[in-house]
Amino acid sequence: MAHNGSRYAVVGLSGLLAMMVALLSGSVQTSTPRQVAAPEQEQQGDGLLARGRYLATIGVCEACHTPPAVPETPPDPSDVEQVKREREFRTDPDWKKYLDETRRNAGGVPFILRLSATSSGVVYSRNITPDLETGIGSWSEDDIVRALRTGVTPDGRVLFLFAPHTFFANMADSDAKALAKYLKSLPPVRHRVPDRELPFPPQPAPEVPHPKDPPRGRTPERAEYLLAAVVGCKECHSHHENGQLQEFTGGDPKDAFVGVFRLGPDLPLRAQERGFAAFPYPGYAVLYGGNLTRFGKDGPNSDVPVPRLVRAIRQGIAVEPDEYGRPRPLEHVMLWQFYAQMSDDDAYSIAQLVKRLRYVPHDVHKGPIRFGEDWRAAFQQVFGEPPSPNDERIFGKGNR
Ligand code: HEC
Ligand code: HEC
Repeated sequence: MAHNGSRYAVVGLSGLLAMMVALLSGSVQTSTPRQVAAPEQEQQGDGLLARGRYLATIGVCEACHTPPAVPETPPDPSDVEQVKREREFRTDPDWKKYLDETRRNAGGVPFILRLSATSSGVVYSRNITPDLETGIGSWSEDDIVRALRTGVTPDGRVLFLFAPHTFFANMADSDAKALAKYLKSLPPVRHRVPDRELPFPPQPAPEVPHPKDPPRGRTPERAEYLLAAVVGCKECHSHHENGQLQEFTGGDPKDAFVGVFRLGPDLPLRAQERGFAAFPYPGYAVLYGGNLTRFGKDGPNSDVPVPRLVRAIRQGIAVEPDEYGRPRPLEHVMLWQFYAQMSDDDAYSIAQLVKRLRYVPHDVHKGPIRFGEDWRAAFQQVFGEPPSPNDERIFGKGNR
């Protein structure tokens, strides 16, 4: 991934995961007898709102836009309750329990960017609730569509677009409108987000051709569309080789941007310990998305059936069992808590697309590589060089 010619790595690409099932299914169905909605009817009212809510779920907006309900500062060691909650937060696989219910979609989750040994920045997810002062309450639906497509806000700010914002430009008109309508329907939350600090000015994205309506059904076209415009499978399961994106071949140690994630309850790191830490195992670990082409038609795992891939995507159960033959739960960074809401058609069309991939050999370390408390070793694994004094300042706080 290049920006102004330089490579950068976003540390902690994936955020918190929330599966707010109750709210997700909150749309009101029209009274019986139900007619089959004509496309025009679906453009208005509840149909469009429900679609927007669905897209927001599989597009994982909340993963980045809802902060966790843990204090910014480490717990006071004498406060037993606080310490207990902190420990639970770090080890409980059910992340949704630890999201800040009072700040849903209200932003403020920091993402650290490392451009080089001497240059870093931080960008905070923004408040996307319709609060007038601190959110997007004054934006029209068209303003939201434009910001999603090009990164330009109604007041002329240019957003720093990183995945998945990098590909929202490809979203169909009706899907972008549905998302905008859904954002406008959220309860407004007052929460002011700090300004980002980047060592370069972000560039607006050019308008690209996009369909008026998305393809539908359990079809290859639907899967292609979802991966190009809404769902970020490729972001985590690909790496670059000679400047070319090798799609679905798995992350790579030499390509931190698509290769590294924090694990477990992926909280915005506290000021004292910014970095790629905060794992439920004591210490630091690095994890790469696997090579999905191995499930393709000529791959070594071509015998894995589509439903098993769907199970991995929606239930977070690894395709292969663990060393004792038990089902292995996938780390939450795989985002299955969101994908659990994916419709059968969407999940199966994506899994079928995976089964059609051509196998590209590329070894990816399976499972977390653990570094205990040695954050510098984890850093070296991610960036391929030891931390500079600048990195020590940004990532090393609280670790010395
Ligand atoms: C990987 C994290 C991530 C995900 C996932 C994500 N966003 Fe964002 N979003 C951000 C960040 C970071 C910014 C702020 C960029 C900046 O300030 O330059 C942002 C900015 C925005 C803005 C601009 C708001 C403003 O006031 O400027 C909107 C609107 C938005 N996101 C909507 C969405 C929607 C809708 C989704 C899901 C379909 C989504 N985002 C998914 C990280 C994310
Ligand atoms: C934010 C990063 C991320 C995104 C987005 C993501 N994955 Fe993953 N995925 C991972 C990681 C990391 C693992 C390995 C987790 C582990 O080993 O515990 C994984 C594991 C998997 C597995 C299990 C492979 C195995 O070896 O058992 C499948 C299948 C999979 N992902 C498919 C997908 C599909 C399809 C999508 C899009 C719908 C997707 N992933 C989106 C990061 C991601």
